[in-house]
Amino acid sequence: MQKYILLIGVIGLLLSCKSQEKKSDEQSVTIGGKSTELSASELGKKLFNGKGKCYTCHKLDKKSIGPSVQAMMKIYNEQNGDIVAFLKQEADPIVDPETYTVMKTNFALLKTFSDKELEALEAYMYSVVE
Ligand code: HEC
Repeated sequence: MQKYILLIGVIGLLLSCKSQEKKSDEQSVTIGGKSTELSASELGKKLFNGKGKCYTCHKLDKKSIGPSVQAMMKIYNEQNGDIVAFLKQEADPIVDPETYTVMKTNFALLKTFSDKELEALEAYMYSVVE
């Protein structure tokens, strides 16, 4: 009798191990899937905080050297502005034209950005205010 109980115990243990294995397998698949494909706003976040160094002047919710991202997006939403056109110097500043000379220092760097990267920056800036 004791032998049977032991056997059932062992089987139970084996089964529980198996189901755990399956779970961790599924997890690693989703993590793998995420790291290979960045969404536009995820790429934008990387550029905003990395290559673009935008964060040095633009905080998300409070003014620093430049206006906060929230304040800028509010105006862009209201006036139906075009961030990509602004970043390409194809559109005039609508947020704070008085300090535009400070923002202007970034256009040399922004010229090295592809359209895809500029669109990603735009997607990220819109994504943080929603
Ligand atoms: C050296 C500081 C500085 C950095 C770095 C900087 N900005 Fe700015 N930015 C400003 C200032 C100041 C303004 C306000 C003047 C203006 O409205 O153009 C501004 C304004 C803006 C505006 C609103 C433009 C408008 O219509 O008035 C956008 C959009 C913007 N920045 C995006 C960016 C992005 C994207 C980056 C990173 C590639 C960046 N900025 C980096 C200082 C900076």
